[in-house]
Formats: sequence, structure tokens, C-alpha cells
Amino acid sequence: MSDTGSAPPTDQNAVVRFEGVSKRFGQKQVLDDVSFSVPAGQALCILGRSGMGKSVTLKLAIALLKPDAGKIWIEGEEIDRLRGAQLSEVRRKMGFLFQDAALFDSLTLYENLALPMQRLTNKPWDEVNRAVDRVLGQVGLEHDKEKMPVELSGGMRKRAGMARALVLEPKILLADEPSSGLDRISAAEIDELLLNEKRERRTTLIVVTHDVHGARRVGDQFAVLEDGHLVAYGSADDLEHSHNDTARKLISEQGQ
Ligand SMILES: Nc1ncnc2c1ncn2[C@@H]1O[C@H](COP(=O)(O)OP(=O)(O)O)[C@@H](O)[C@H]1O
Ligand SMILES: [Mg+2]
Repeated sequence: MSDTGSAPPTDQNAVVRFEGVSKRFGQKQVLDDVSFSVPAGQALCILGRSGMGKSVTLKLAIALLKPDAGKIWIEGEEIDRLRGAQLSEVRRKMGFLFQDAALFDSLTLYENLALPMQRLTNKPWDEVNRAVDRVLGQVGLEHDKEKMPVELSGGMRKRAGMARALVLEPKILLADEPSSGLDRISAAEIDELLLNEKRERRTTLIVVTHDVHGARRVGDQFAVLEDGHLVAYGSADDLEHSHNDTARKLISEQGQ
């Protein structure tokens, strides 16, 4: 474990690997020499206060943003160097739940899931239908497929975003605050879904969360981002004994 801000060792066989990654917007150094790796089938939970670069980290992993320095590997491919078809191929292995769910307002819930899936896979429509029904059932929205996004509550939009991230059965799932804004029961259901992905399908997970209870249930490793650095990294137990105050606060259930 590291809680001095120095990089934890990264594993060359890891499914997701950041090595010395830095990212700045204008004057603001959001990430400064960040390294971590996530082995196959494990879940890394990223914790940190608002504005510390958690969402930026996920967007770098899927190459929606480019690092200023450092390298990012997804299953051994340097994702920020890939373009076009090669990038699409790596991204197809990845499910992404955006913080704001990011649904298309002019499409029904069903279309929000089915159209991107059809476009990415060229699968026949009956197969697409089955996959969409399956994931909507998983998130408890099977009776809402004809609804428009404006008709969905915040919690339902979140679950819809989760369904969209899962519809292609990704090997890697990146989830940005999957349970924020949900009531406790719905949040617990999302946690179960994430756990199930990990246990049944060996999906590799990176979950950004403020929900300590959920993080402890789902996470194998925890990383705390603060002022551009990974100030703590390790098991829940490691964080509880960290020298870093924020890390101890964020992992403590009493802190909620
Ligand atoms: N595309 C962008 N352009 C400019 N600044 C950005 C962009 N994305 C994020 N930022 C800034 O980077 C910092 C970290 O953002 P973010 O990763 O969203 O934080 P959080 O940890 O809350 O998810 C914030 O100061 C944010 O304003
Ligand atoms: Mg964020």
C-alpha cells in the first residue's frame, strides 16, 4: 500500500493500467503522476472529494480524454494511441456509466439501449431485443421501455445508464457514481448488480463512488484521489490505517 503519494506498483498483466498519468486543464493540474492497475475480475473503487479528478480518470481510461503525460493500457493495448477501428474495438469491451446517465432525450428507453447496440454490433434485431430485455430486467425497468427519458426519475435514469453500460456484456465496466441520488434500497440493488457482474462474469470494475457501504461491498482495492495524487491505495483495512486523513474519513462508515 502507498499512502505517501508515491505510485503503487502496477501489474503488466492487469486489465486496466495507468502509469504516471498526468492531466491538466488550463492552470489546474487535475492528475499528477497517477499510477494504478486493476487485475482481471477485480473491482477498484475510486474515492475522493468533488473535483478531484475521479470522472476525468474514467474518461481517460476510455480515451474520451488524452493524458498530457503517462500511459494507459487496456488489456495490454495503449488506448490513448489507438484510433478509428482499433479504438472502437477496445472500447467495445468496455461499458461506461456516465455520472449523469447521458441518455438521448429524443429516444425511448428501449431505443437508447437498442440503437447503439445495433450500430456497434450489427446483431440481428431479435438478438438486440433479447439483450435489451435482459438488462432492463436486471435493473428493474422491464415495464418502462417505451418511456422517454424525461418521464424517468433520477434513480430510474441511473439504472437505465447502468443497463446501457451492461447491454454489450463488457469485460470492463467503468461506473461513475452508479448509486448517487438513489434511495438506499435502489443503491443496494445497484451494488448487487455490480457484485454479480464481478462474480458471475468476472467483469473488471472501476467504480467511482461516495457510498462507503457500497464501496466496501463491491471493492477489492480502493484508491483515494486528492490534489492530483493517489494519496492512499490498498484494501479497506489499509485505508482505515492510512496516514492520510481524507482516506480514513472516506472509508469510515461513520463519516457518511
Ligand atoms: N473537459 C474539461 N475541461 C475543463 N476542465 C475540466 C474538464 N473535465 C473536468 N475538468 C475539471 O477537472 C477537475 C476534476 O473534475 P472531475 O474529474 O469531474 O472531478 P470529480 O472527482 O468530482 O469527478 C475539476 O476541476 C473540473 O472542473
Ligand atoms: Mg465526477
